[in-house]
Amino acid sequence: MAKHRLIVIPPPFQGHMTPMLQLATILHSKGFSITVAHTNFNSPDPTNYPDDFTFLPFYDGLSDSCTLSPKNVIQISKTLNINCVTPVKELLLRIMDENKENQEEKILCVIYDGLMHFVDSVARELNLPTILFRTTCATNFLSYHSLPTLQTNGYLPLQDSSCVCMEMVEGLEPLRYRDLPIFNMGESATDTMVKQAAISLSVKPSLGVIFNTIEFLEASSLQKLRNLYKIGVFPIGPLHMLTPPSSQKQDNSSMTTTTSLMKEDYSCITWLNEQEPGSVLYVSLGSIASWNERELIEVAHGLANSEQRFLWVIRPETIKSIPEEVKSLAREKGRIVKWAPQREVLAHSAVGGFWSHCGWNSTLESVCFGVPMMCQPCFGDQRVNARLASHVWKVGIDCSEMRIGREEVEGAVRRMMVSWEGKEMRERAVLMKDKIRVGVRDQDALNALVHAIIMSTC
Ligand code: UDX
Repeated sequence: MAKHRLIVIPPPFQGHMTPMLQLATILHSKGFSITVAHTNFNSPDPTNYPDDFTFLPFYDGLSDSCTLSPKNVIQISKTLNINCVTPVKELLLRIMDENKENQEEKILCVIYDGLMHFVDSVARELNLPTILFRTTCATNFLSYHSLPTLQTNGYLPLQDSSCVCMEMVEGLEPLRYRDLPIFNMGESATDTMVKQAAISLSVKPSLGVIFNTIEFLEASSLQKLRNLYKIGVFPIGPLHMLTPPSSQKQDNSSMTTTTSLMKEDYSCITWLNEQEPGSVLYVSLGSIASWNERELIEVAHGLANSEQRFLWVIRPETIKSIPEEVKSLAREKGRIVKWAPQREVLAHSAVGGFWSHCGWNSTLESVCFGVPMMCQPCFGDQRVNARLASHVWKVGIDCSEMRIGREEVEGAVRRMMVSWEGKEMRERAVLMKDKIRVGVRDQDALNALVHAIIMSTC
């Protein structure tokens, strides 16, 4: 088969880079050549991928000292959509020019992340078919459709004091207003987010939209999106479960290809090997959210007072140095790492719960490995994911309103790890894991996507 080329364009955020590179690996196994066009900032490591993956950086105009936080992510996305238009156009033109004599290497289509929506018009100008990849869940994207009405009705910005907070949003049940991705963002960030969402909704990629999800998890939202969109909707996921072993890097330290932008500390797996089954709480807020120093100290006291074992990720860029008090409280029953091999951790039999910020990747990984969650969303789509986990799938404790104080933390950790409620959630999570594994065998959406890409040349 001719190895036609796909160009994938992720934004420089771990939670978006990971699923895009997983998708690229899956499509590579279906016979496509892959070019990853990426920003200079937070660039992926080419050595982690098959040799015939091509990595091409483009100028992004971001400073080397740029650090990500919940507050600046939307602004950075907005900046990328301005700065990268010309560099991406030039890069695509260069690839087209280099391959003009070689039909087999011609670009079949451009797959871009929803945060990089500028790519759609650039590719169209060059007559290249496009596919939009939304790395958050389908329910979150569906919720964007409610934002214009909320704005017209004067409900924005939505915050704790808004009287509608606890009410269900019509058409999005069981999401409440407080579960929407714009909740508690402040006036200016809400405004930026509403504008970005409106652009996202107006973009209509020529070949369709991919979601990293599965019918079993989000059937009703996917159906609503199919009714709204008149183009293909492809639920392909959970992507980490579909990544083929044959194309995974053969490396003793890892059971999967690492898409990590940070170095994973495998010593925690050795530590987990020494713990009792289901006895460890894994604590991580993903790659952007973090606790401040006061909160770290409260969390450390709460964890220690709960007398449960824990593995805790504290990213170095979020704190100058970990307070001695935290280190000493963690010494007896805990382990702190800078960055964990998360999928291996969640797959480990010693792990019995996950205190998570409910990023979509973490949520998917947790349900796929049958680990129940303490759901503490920090921003954006995490609220939607937390609601799904706690209220719809019932495999998570809703901690979205929990104050970070030592007593509250101790109580929630005990509830997760030693109460009947926690035990029941663990049982439900295992059943759910089994159902997902069955659902993943259905490759109809992936086959339909491959077919749509191939047919785009005809
Ligand atoms: C961001 C957003 O915050 C999230 O809400 C959105 O759904 C995706 O983009 P992030 O906050 O990093 O992502 O969370 P998440 O989606 O959970 O992605 C984090 C990824 O990093 C996961 O794949 C996880 O396995 C990995 N990870 C995290 C590690 O490999 N090691 C760690 O120590 C922590």
